[in-house]
This record gives sequence, C-alpha cells and structure tokens, in this order.
Amino acid sequence: MKDHYGRKINYMRLSITDLCNLRCVYCMPEEGVEKHAHTKNLSFEEMLDLIKAGVALGIDKVRLTGGEPLVRHGIVDLVREIGRIPEIKDLTMTTNGILLPKYAKELKKAGLTRVNISLDTFDPDKYHQITRWGHIEDVLAGIEAAKEVGMHPIKINTVLIKGFNDDEIGSFVNFTKDHEVDIRFIELMPLGESISFAENKYLSNDEVLRQVPELQPVVELDKSGPAIYYRLPGAKGKVGLINPISKHFCKECNRIRVTSDGKIKPCLHSDFEIDIVALRKEGKSYEEILKQAIGEKPEQHHIDENEKQLLRNMNEIGG
Ligand code: GTP
Ligand code: 5AD
Ligand code: SF4
Repeated sequence: MKDHYGRKINYMRLSITDLCNLRCVYCMPEEGVEKHAHTKNLSFEEMLDLIKAGVALGIDKVRLTGGEPLVRHGIVDLVREIGRIPEIKDLTMTTNGILLPKYAKELKKAGLTRVNISLDTFDPDKYHQITRWGHIEDVLAGIEAAKEVGMHPIKINTVLIKGFNDDEIGSFVNFTKDHEVDIRFIELMPLGESISFAENKYLSNDEVLRQVPELQPVVELDKSGPAIYYRLPGAKGKVGLINPISKHFCKECNRIRVTSDGKIKPCLHSDFEIDIVALRKEGKSYEEILKQAIGEKPEQHHIDENEKQLLRNMNEIGG
C-alpha cells in the first residue's frame, strides 16, 4: 500500500519484547523494565494476524526486534509461523547476538533469512561498559554461529558515539577487508534513555568518510533498508552509513513499526501511536488498523541532534 506521499510501505518491524539480557547505556535504564509490561505484549497469534493483514496490503519484509527478540519464549515457533507465509520474502531479526550460538541453527531452519547484530566496540572492557555487563566473546560467537548456518549477509550495527568508539572507526572498516560482514554505523538518536546520554556524544557519519576517504560508494540493488553503502577496494564486506539525523531518509521510508506493547508507530521519530488492542475492541479489523496507520505516516521527521523525542526508550520500539 502507498501512503499519502506516494511511498510504498512493504516493511513491517515488530518489537516482540521490551526485555533484554543487556542494558546498553543509550537504550535502557540499568534496572531494566518492569516485568508487568511484558503482559501487555501482543500474543504471537495477534502478531501473526497483524502480519497477514499487512501481507494483504503489500508487506513482504518483516523484521523482529526487541529489546532482545531472542529472550521471548517461543521465538523459534513465531519465526516458523511467519516463515510459512509465502509472500514474506525477507524475514529478519535485529539482535544483540548473545543467544545466537544457542538459536542460530533452529532459527535458520524455521525460516529466518538473516540477522543484524549490534556491536559498538571491539574492546572487551568497552563492550562491558556500554552494555553494562555483556561479554564480547558471546557476541563474536553469535556472529560465527550465524555465519556457520549460512545466514547471509550478516550486518553489524555500530552506534557511533563521540569519545567512545570514534577511535575505532578504522578498526571496524578494516574488519570488512577479510570478513564477509557489513559494518553499519548508526548516528546516535536522541530519544528516551539516550537523551541525556547523547549530550555531546553525537557525531555525524560524515566522520567515517573523513577518517576513511578510501571508501568507495556501492550501487545498492536492495534499497529496502536505510543504509547507504560503501566499500574499501577489494574488501569482502561493505560499510553502511545510517544517517537518521544528518541526512534523514524519510523520502524513501517504506516501513511501519509495532511496539512491544501493541502500538503502531507510523514514524520512529514521532510520539504519535495507534493502539491496536483498543481499536480491535472497537471492532476494527487488523487491515483497517494498518490502513489507518499507513495513512498517518508523516512526510518527514523533524528531529535533529538538539530536538529531543520524549516518550519511549528504544527497547520498546526496536530501532
Ligand atoms: P536492513 O533491512 O538489513 O537494512 O535492516 P534495517 O537497517 O532496516 O534494520 P536494523 O534493525 O538493523 O536498523 C538499523 C538501525 O537503523 C537502527 O538503529 C534503526 O533505529 C535505524 N533505522 C531503521 N529504520 C529507520 C527509520 O525509518 N528511521 C530512523 N530514523 N532510523 C531507522
Ligand atoms: N540511537 C541510535 N541507535 C540506537 N540503537 C538503540 N538505541 C539507539 C539510539 N538512541 C540501535 C541498537 C541496535 C539498533 C536496533 O538500534 O544498537 O543496533
Ligand atoms: Fe538490549 Fe539492544 Fe537495547 Fe542494547 S540496544 S540494551 S542489546 S535492546
């Protein structure tokens, strides 16, 4: 389905839990979230009905996010059910990778096409610091597990943080020389928990091109994601820049998001939401609810590094 601005909406992102086994400092408070919120999650049946209604409107790409999607009980069964929907061409997940050694094989078998894995540093101590308690060897094992089962391409999401990992830009880029993975730098977005954290830590992704001028633009055939891609000459992997702040990609926006507590967000950077459960109670069908949400997509967002966004933390939205 097209929205009011002629954009074809074919990508649905579902945050299936706000719980996480890490606590990245820009994403969640240290104490985590109250478990009672968990009971407000959509059930898997509700999600499947919503996805099927989306398919009727042209959704062919589904991404499961969190929190950490792999901590939700029954995740492999959910993937299997979505995997059975023939119209879904790309069934993917954004994960911190910690539980991939346990689940990669089953997920692949159940129909998960690929994973995007969050990793903000290669330094074990800094990893521990940014995630508040994570062990980097677990993520590295997760990346290997995803590779071993043939998930391809593997993308690493790296939030660029001034004074924390801007000294590692070169190491991340060099990693793509010998590894068949894409490294994607993401500009730090000032929302929820990260508002206070982000102060003075935002860096535009232009910094990557400034530090590594050898990067060459890549003509990307798959335009369904937000990254602009580059490559070091001869490198096996690519380098992606996701620039929501410095050069927002609203014109190409093809997605809607569902939060862990069952609200549709027509735009990541707007606090406006549509309550699925409330509308269902009023007798609206999932298809009607989705049409309404797509109809409410704004032309573009207006945040910048100084304009804050209030309501939610990223762990409820899923990025
Ligand atoms: P691919 O399909 O593999 O390209 O995935 P993706 O980039 O769509 O998904 P992923 O969950 O890995 O997102 C990477 C980062 O891009 C996250 O930090 C998201 O918050 C950010 N992102 C994705 N879509 C949007 C969007 O529509 N607006 C903004 N501002 N950021 C987005
Ligand atoms: N700004 C930019 N990226 C963020 N992520 C979480 N919070 C923020 C933020 N405030 C990233 C995670 C993950 C992806 C889904 O979003 O690191 O890779
Ligand atoms: Fe968990 Fe991802 Fe948030 Fe880190 S960014 S706390 S891994 S949901």
